[in-house]
Order: sequence, then structure tokens, then C-alpha cells
Amino acid sequence: MKSFDIILGDITTVKADAIVNAANTTLLGGGGVDGAIHRAAGPELLTECWTLHGCATGEAKITKGYRLPAKYVIHTPGPIWQGGGHHEADLLRNSYVNSLKLAEEHGCRTVAFPSISTGVYHFPLDKASVIAVQAIHDFLAHSAHVEQVQMICFDEVTKAAYEEA
Ligand code: APR
Repeated sequence: MKSFDIILGDITTVKADAIVNAANTTLLGGGGVDGAIHRAAGPELLTECWTLHGCATGEAKITKGYRLPAKYVIHTPGPIWQGGGHHEADLLRNSYVNSLKLAEEHGCRTVAFPSISTGVYHFPLDKASVIAVQAIHDFLAHSAHVEQVQMICFDEVTKAAYEEA
């Protein structure tokens, strides 16, 4: 039974097969959810990230979850908002789709996302939430392994935006 749920919470506590990290192109950690995931996973996560040699915006790479309850972490750098004229919408969609493709390839049944790019990267939440919901719904319509996707919202404003979308 396929499902998409919007949940208020901290993604580092979510026991999904894979959680997605809103990373940057170095994949070497940062603030926000990236910092929280690295803190919770422990130092081995960064050690494995070093071996990945970065990741382009909209692409995705996968690592183990280490001390996290999740088996895998899928790292994807979302686009930095630059006003909307630099293919930000396509790049954000790519981050969701490529993360889901990696989860599918690794036989994940459940995947949890944060709200990619809507923090430090300033992607407008009303636009980002529509792109994310559309990409997730379209993927779930055809996925063989991925059955449950969760959007883990860190605050009420974000949660309301995804429920609206
Ligand atoms: N669980 C779930 N969501 C979280 C958590 C958490 N523990 N911590 C933060 N968030 C939310 C933020 O509130 C925001 O809604 O994740 C969303 C994405 O915000 P950022 O973490 O700032 O990510 P992003 O906007 O994609 O910017 C990425 O920030 O941390 C750096 O290294 C990262 O350079 C990269 C940039």
C-alpha cells in the first residue's frame, strides 16, 4: 500500500530504510539538517562521505546510516534559490527524483525527506513544497520497492506548506 505522509519531527530520529540529507556539493557536512544528520550518525559518516568526492546539485549519493536508526543516508545538494531563473525548479525536482531512484535501487521500502533547499538555500517554501509533493507522487505511482515516503517537517510553518501542497 503506497503512502505519503507529512510529519512534524526530527529526521535523525526517523526509522526509515533511508533518510535524505539536504547536503551541499562537497558532501562534507554543514549546518541545518546536514549538521544534525552528521552529529547523529557519528564520525564514520563523514569518513564515508570523503570517499564520494562531492555531488552535483540535483544529483544524489548514498551512504550507510551508522548510528542513525535509518539504514542509509541519501545525500542530495538542492539548488540555492537565485530568483527562479536558474533552473532551480528542475534542479529541486531532480534532487527528489534522484534520491528516490537511489532508494529504489537499494531496495528501500520507506524513505524520509526533509524540506530540501527551503532553509539556508532560501528556496520559497510555497514553490518547493508543490515541486516536492508532485515529484514524490509521480514516483510512487511507478515504484516497485519504495512504498512509503514521509516528509519530515522541522516546524509548523513547513508542515502547513506541505499539507497545503
Ligand atoms: N530534521 C528535519 N528537518 C530539519 C532538521 C532536522 N533535524 N534540521 C533542519 N531541518 C529543516 C529546516 O528547518 C528546513 O526546513 O530542513 C530544511 C532544510 O533546511 P537546511 O538544513 O538549511 O537545508 P538547505 O536549505 O537545503 O541548505 C543546505 O545548508 O546545512 C547546510 O550543508 C548544508 O550547505 C548546505 C545547506
